[in-house]
Amino acid sequence: MHIERLTPNDLAGCVGLAVDRDWQPEEPKWRLLFGVGDAYGVRDEQGGLAGCAVLTRYGPSAAVLSNLLVARRHERQGIGAGLVRHVLAAAAPATTLLYATTEGRELYRRLGFEDVRTANVWVGRFGLVRVDSPRSRPAISADLGPIVKLDSEVYGVDRAHMLARLFSAAEQVRVLEEDGEIVGYATRYASDDWQAIGPVVAPDEDGAQALITDLAEGAEGPVRIDLLDDQRNLGEWLTGCGLATVYQATFMRHGSIPEGRPAQMFAPVGHALG
Ligand SMILES: CC(C)(COP(=O)(O)OP(=O)(O)OC[C@H]1O[C@@H](n2cnc3c(N)ncnc32)[C@H](O)[C@@H]1OP(=O)(O)O)[C@@H](O)C(=O)NCCC(=O)NCCS
Repeated sequence: MHIERLTPNDLAGCVGLAVDRDWQPEEPKWRLLFGVGDAYGVRDEQGGLAGCAVLTRYGPSAAVLSNLLVARRHERQGIGAGLVRHVLAAAAPATTLLYATTEGRELYRRLGFEDVRTANVWVGRFGLVRVDSPRSRPAISADLGPIVKLDSEVYGVDRAHMLARLFSAAEQVRVLEEDGEIVGYATRYASDDWQAIGPVVAPDEDGAQALITDLAEGAEGPVRIDLLDDQRNLGEWLTGCGLATVYQATFMRHGSIPEGRPAQMFAPVGHALG
C-alpha cells in the first residue's frame, strides 16, 4: 500500500471521504487540520482518495491522530489499519492520542491503543437565563502568551502552533482572571450545524460554567461541547441549559498520557485536536 503526504489540494477529497461516511463536511475544520497537522492518504486507481488520516504533533512527546476515513467501496481491505500503522510510525516515539468512533475502536485496540475514558458530545440551543454579569472577558492578542503557558501546564505539552491558528479561526476567545492572572480560557468556533465550544480550561467547575455561558450566549443556533465523562456535574448542568448527549466516543492512548492537570481540562478543542 502506498501512503503519501497530502497537500491542501486534497482538502476537497478529504471532505468527500467524510461525506461518503455520513460525516458532516466541516470544511473549516479540515482547513485548520491541514494548517496544523500532517495529512496522509491512499489513492485509488483513478487518483481519487481511498482513505486518509491526520496527525497533529504537539512537540516531541505527544500527537493526536484524527479523521481516519476509508471510502465505503474500499472498506475492510486493510487501508484503515495501514494508515494507522503509518501514522504511529511517523509520530514515534511520541504518545499518540485519539477519540475513537465505535467503528474505529476495534481497529485501534488491535493496533495497541488503550481506552482512557468515554467522551460525550453535547449539542443543543443554550437556554440558560443569566442572572450574574459575565465573569470572563474577551481575550486580546497580548493574552495569547499566558494562554499558551496555561494550556501547556494543563494539557501537559506545548500546543502553541495549534492555539495560534485556532484563535485566528475562532469566533471568540474568552479568559478568566484571578488577581490579574489568566487562570482559564475557552474558545468558540463555527462548524457546519453548530458553534463548537472548546477547549474549556478552568480552575474549577464554576469557572468552566462561566466561560461556557459567556461564549454560548453570543452563539447563533446550537452549540456543541465535547465533555470528558468524569465531568458529571457539568453534564447535569448542560442538561439544565438545554443540551443533550448526541454521540459518545472513546478517548484512547498509545503510550503514556502527558502529565498535566487534567482536572482543569473540562473539554478538549474537539475530537480532532485533543
Ligand atoms: C474505521 C475505518 C477507518 C476502518 O477502515 P478499514 O479500511 O475498513 O479498516 P481495515 O480494513 O484496516 O480493518 C482492520 C480491522 O479493523 C476492525 N474493523 C474495521 N472496520 C470495522 C467495523 N466497521 N466494525 C468493527 N471492526 C472494524 C476489524 O478488526 C478489521 O479487521 P478484519 O477486517 O480482519 O476484521 C472505516 O470503517 C471508516 O472510515 N469508518 C467511518 C469513519 C470512522 O469511524 N473512522 C474512525 C475515526 S476514529
